[in-house]
Amino acid sequence: MTREEIEKMLSGLAELRCKTEKEVEEARVKLLGKKGEITRMFEEFRTVAPELKKEFGRSLNELKQAAVAKIEELRASAQGASSEGKSKNSDLTMPGEPMPLGSRHPVSIVRQEIVDIFRKFGYDVAEGPEIEDDYHVFEALNFPANHPARDMQDTFFVSAGHLNPLLLRTHTSSIQVRTMETQKPPIRVICPGRVFRNEAISARAHCIFHQVEGLYIDENVTFADLKQAILLFAREMFGADAKIRMRPSFFPFTEPSSEVDVSCNICHGKGCNICKGTGWLEIMGCGMVDPNVLEASGIDSKQYSGFAFGMGVERIAMLKWQVNDLRHYFENDLRFLSEFSTATEV
Ligand code: DAH
Repeated sequence: MTREEIEKMLSGLAELRCKTEKEVEEARVKLLGKKGEITRMFEEFRTVAPELKKEFGRSLNELKQAAVAKIEELRASAQGASSEGKSKNSDLTMPGEPMPLGSRHPVSIVRQEIVDIFRKFGYDVAEGPEIEDDYHVFEALNFPANHPARDMQDTFFVSAGHLNPLLLRTHTSSIQVRTMETQKPPIRVICPGRVFRNEAISARAHCIFHQVEGLYIDENVTFADLKQAILLFAREMFGADAKIRMRPSFFPFTEPSSEVDVSCNICHGKGCNICKGTGWLEIMGCGMVDPNVLEASGIDSKQYSGFAFGMGVERIAMLKWQVNDLRHYFENDLRFLSEFSTATEV
């Protein structure tokens, strides 16, 4: 091995050209492969006189680095050329590759179905903020500060300790208040939205879920109107033979209050594991708007009366599709979601 030989190799490297990746690989083997020229020079290096080792060692290392860099550069440009060639040669008349079609989330499908049913009855859609204040979620809905009814809804506070703390709304009933503040009766609204509760996640509970709230205020609205609205809704949602029953209940914002069950659409009242043998499924809370709630938002409770109801969208979706674990709705597992790709909206 001589200095000249190393110089010659270096200038040869500068002139090296390859068109294809195959040629690049051949050049690499020729220079750096097991029997390559540079590899051979490293072997010869062992026999170089000790006083020349330092100088030859440095030049040889430089040569090897230059060769590795050159091969990399050639490979990159050969790859670029081949993909360019491909796109130049592509046949634009070929049919396109199919794009997988997404589907609407089952919760969105059911929410839309609920909204559409009430729209047919003449309700407008109203929305409100997810980060709410204590006043709209509790105070104006007749939950006084420190009232034990607040315990029914474990709340995520955003700012605590303040007179009117900010929090994540625990129910869409807050939209009732916002609507009554800005509209005069007659009011007929349906309020879909996401709600948040500090609950342990299980098959039956989640810390985020969806509700649809309804509110109807006018002169002479009675409990009979409430019953009829819910019966019509149940028939549209669960089928023409659906029946409802109402059980007395308590909510601070309604008086009287009730919980509504619909006849089980799976066993048709015979009793199955979804309705736990009772033939009935609970679908919502409702009642006549408490006069305190009307007055808090500036509506004269002597002139007007109204009803309200609220239901969980996931609950209705579970009943509709017989899904027995709420968590499926939040995990975004495509195997679950694609089951609904053919589900249609009403
Ligand atoms: N806000 C209640 C809840 O989240 C549901 C509800 C019950 C809403 C009765 C109403 C109602 O409007 O009248 O549990």
